[in-house]
Amino acid sequence: MKSKDLRRKYIEFFKAKGHVEIPSASLLPENDPSVLFTTAGMSPLVPFLLGEKHPAGARLVNSQKCIRTGDIDEVGDGFHHTFFEMLGHWSFDDYWKDEALKMSFEFVTKELGLDKKYLAVSVFEGDKNAPRDDESIEVWKKLGIDEKRIKPLPKDSNWWEPTGDNGPCGPCTEMFYWTGDKKFVPDVFDPADKNWVEIGNDVLMQYEKVGENKYKIAKQKNIDNGTGLERLLAVMNGLDDDYRTDLFWPIIQKIEELSGKTYDLTPDPLLVKERGTSDTVRSMRIIADHLRAATFIMGDNLGVASSNLDQGYVVRKLIRRAIRHGKLIGIDKNFCSEIAEIIINLMKGVYSELEKNKEFVISNMKEEEEKFRKTLEKGLKVLTTHMRARDKGDIINQENIPNCSPVDGVKGYVPPVITGDWLFDIYQKLGFPLELSLEEIQKEQKINKFDLERIKNEFEEEMKKHQDLSRTASAGKFKGGLANQSEMAIKYHTATHLTLAALRKVLGEHVFQRGSNITDERMRLDFSHGEKMTPEQIKQVENIVNEQIQKNLPVECEEMNVDEAKNSGAMGIFENKYGERVKVYSVGAGDVCFSKEICGGPHVENTSELGHFKILKEEASSAGVRRIKAVLS
Ligand code: SER
Repeated sequence: MKSKDLRRKYIEFFKAKGHVEIPSASLLPENDPSVLFTTAGMSPLVPFLLGEKHPAGARLVNSQKCIRTGDIDEVGDGFHHTFFEMLGHWSFDDYWKDEALKMSFEFVTKELGLDKKYLAVSVFEGDKNAPRDDESIEVWKKLGIDEKRIKPLPKDSNWWEPTGDNGPCGPCTEMFYWTGDKKFVPDVFDPADKNWVEIGNDVLMQYEKVGENKYKIAKQKNIDNGTGLERLLAVMNGLDDDYRTDLFWPIIQKIEELSGKTYDLTPDPLLVKERGTSDTVRSMRIIADHLRAATFIMGDNLGVASSNLDQGYVVRKLIRRAIRHGKLIGIDKNFCSEIAEIIINLMKGVYSELEKNKEFVISNMKEEEEKFRKTLEKGLKVLTTHMRARDKGDIINQENIPNCSPVDGVKGYVPPVITGDWLFDIYQKLGFPLELSLEEIQKEQKINKFDLERIKNEFEEEMKKHQDLSRTASAGKFKGGLANQSEMAIKYHTATHLTLAALRKVLGEHVFQRGSNITDERMRLDFSHGEKMTPEQIKQVENIVNEQIQKNLPVECEEMNVDEAKNSGAMGIFENKYGERVKVYSVGAGDVCFSKEICGGPHVENTSELGHFKILKEEASSAGVRRIKAVLS
């Protein structure tokens, strides 16, 4: 079965059950600062799961682009991915467990033709906050799933939690399919047996998290189904490796061609010792996965290039890791943009933004690759200079070498012992990875096992210190926000609309929103504009926004078709972003209408609620994109 057929089958099946198809939302969340990327189909729908009315209705279905960076170290096996597509369907306060599970069951048994004999399910076993999900157990039994194949599991596997401290949540129930030898399918479901593969997850949102460890019964009950396309596709094709499906295979073939190695899954005992078959396959998967993720992030309608900031930093890391693994399997020339081109061609039929942003993706990919190869050269030079100088007892210019402190008061003398923190510094400052450093050190001189271990430990310790620091920083940075719809976040959301309209008045009609990030403490808006704003322009924008606030303008919401919205002059990224019906928020009505934007909401009812607006900072975000941070007081 082909990916395009499976994707379509899912969407059409649920459309026939009354769901309306909506396009995939952007991979870069627009109003949810709790995450860097859209990690599930439900994430962009949080406001509707909490009671906002969705213009397309109470039943939705789509295939959502998702990025998860949490499992990045697991990438390299057959089924962990940084970028993946999540097939999903939702009920907002419409059908409930009975109908939901029946539909999911019908989809896999009738539509996909998977035999009930090979199915098993997990349900929530209950804890002090919520009881066991007996309702689901009853439905599964009624559908003919044997009790021995229904496994109650604890919260860590069968409960959906919001990303922050607030939001819709509840128990979930997952379906599994036996991929082992069909003759030996066990009667009892054992979730630890890897032959049982998860093929779908129904989250039964009946609670709302209202603080750490605090839950209340939700006002509105929702169903949130998520089904990983890559996994299901592999299962449907009898494969235990997602990379063999048509979503990845052409990429792997190109990597084979570039490296002259084969994607051979049979372990070769002779080769394993010196980076044999399994390592080659792992590297090939990492390259395919990482470049696919980087291509999708850059090729998004709100796409970003590699940088040292937030999502751009993830792109940078993904590309660099891909290059690094390319080196390991013998690809020593630039290759990333060639792979990106294959990925774009494979996926543009489903995600047309990839084609639209192709040039941006390819040129940035090339630039990043060249930059990194230069980094590698520089790192190598620093290392070898250091080592050679040390061997000869030479005096060398310390300025080029980080952490090279004088030893025994002899200025310029390179310390005799290579330390892990020194290599970490090279990694930090030049991006030169540890494994490469170690390879070089070993090549240049004999270094004993103990020294190698010591260096690695020292490096890891430094790395850990650094990660702890940045974790603390980002926990603060991405806390709170619109996902939990706090009063402050809603105010900032309306202020964002005002600011965009004011920027267009002051700077011109070329200004469009390129990204937005809201916390309880501030708003941040990225917009297209080529130059630094002057202090006068900043003042003007502030004044205009404050004037609108003082005018006590009402904020009104109307539902309409995309075309009507476009004709009414509403702002929005029209391409491929919205469903058929959209909400349009206007600030001010009639002649005094100041801003009109397509938006999911929510917003304040009147601008008088906003207080005083002030821009704190204006800076570059990426090429042709400026960023402002502002506060309300
Ligand atoms: N939110 C659930 C998941 O990510 C189902 O869509 O698995």
